[in-house]
Amino acid sequence: METATSYLGFRLPHPFIAGASPLGFDLDTIKRLEDGGCSAIVIPSLFEEQITLAAQGRIRHRDALDPVWAESLTHFPDAAEYALTPDRYAEHIARVKGAVAIPVIASLNGTSGESWLRFSRIIEQAGADALELNLYEVVTDLSIPGGVIEHQLRDAVSELKRVLKIPIAVKVSPFFAAFGNVARQLDEAGAAGIVMFNRFYQPDIDTETMTPFPHVELSTGAELLLRLRWLAILFGRVRPSLVVTGGVATPDDGIKALLAGADAVQLVSAVLREGPSCFTTMREGLERWMERHAFTRLNEMRGRASLERTVDPAAFERANYIRTLQSWKV
Ligand SMILES: Cc1cc2nc3c(=O)[nH]c(=O)nc-3n(C[C@H](O)[C@H](O)[C@H](O)COP(=O)(O)O)c2cc1C
Repeated sequence: METATSYLGFRLPHPFIAGASPLGFDLDTIKRLEDGGCSAIVIPSLFEEQITLAAQGRIRHRDALDPVWAESLTHFPDAAEYALTPDRYAEHIARVKGAVAIPVIASLNGTSGESWLRFSRIIEQAGADALELNLYEVVTDLSIPGGVIEHQLRDAVSELKRVLKIPIAVKVSPFFAAFGNVARQLDEAGAAGIVMFNRFYQPDIDTETMTPFPHVELSTGAELLLRLRWLAILFGRVRPSLVVTGGVATPDDGIKALLAGADAVQLVSAVLREGPSCFTTMREGLERWMERHAFTRLNEMRGRASLERTVDPAAFERANYIRTLQSWKV
């Protein structure tokens, strides 16, 4: 049974990797992830705000000491509240590389393709095998059209490509009018991987205090469906590796992602719930399934449920939408 896959140019023994989460801060935990069968790890993000604060004393171009911005900047954590400073982040990457044999992917998280991205050189020099760029942004300015945000994404990848030799994966939001074209632009800009998708941490509202409060909920399998759709649409049509993050909880979820076209599958909530052994559970579940369906290599099953051979994917999507609505019986 051959479960090996290729992700960002690395040959992994199986597709199940640890996504960015606090599990990547502690060396012993990282070793336990490797022992549990994890095939690569994404280290939690270093944020643009941390880098610009340390380098220029500014957050989003605003002087952190200027009283005019005091109100808006109080929403951000103080430098001391982050688990690692930028320098310590680079040292951490070097230590993780020394401690485990699996590929180590660093993560930079921000909203702009500006000079802070040059910190990625330090991360590369520290030994990271690849970089995951997370351009998480909720665009609240009503005057900014979607195309501007898309260009920003593309420019950030192009800028990174200029300074880095290691492969770059881009973790993105699904909320674009035409995500397929965004994926193509990332491909043209040189992304080696597309990580689908960012989960937006949506604040709830406390009805007693009448104020919003942010909270982190671990994902459920329901979140996987949106990812399956876009994997199925992109499979075979763009060059970057496709990796899913969000809603993979069981071996069956992982198999669905591979059938839709994923090259690799990231897990976070499942590991936080079940511990590092869930990687072995995922791999063994995949092997049993492949055996039952007489597949000897992963490539034989990957993308089987994609739209690669569908002549008109848009008509297929529309037809299924209508059929689903019509199928409800009252
Ligand atoms: C506690 C926590 C911390 C996270 N930190 C990061 C992070 O630093 N950078 C990042 O890109 N994603 C981060 N994520 C998002 C995860 O990498 C992942 O995309 C998300 O949890 C969906 O995957 P899952 O359904 O397997 O949990 C975090 C998620 C959780 C739950």
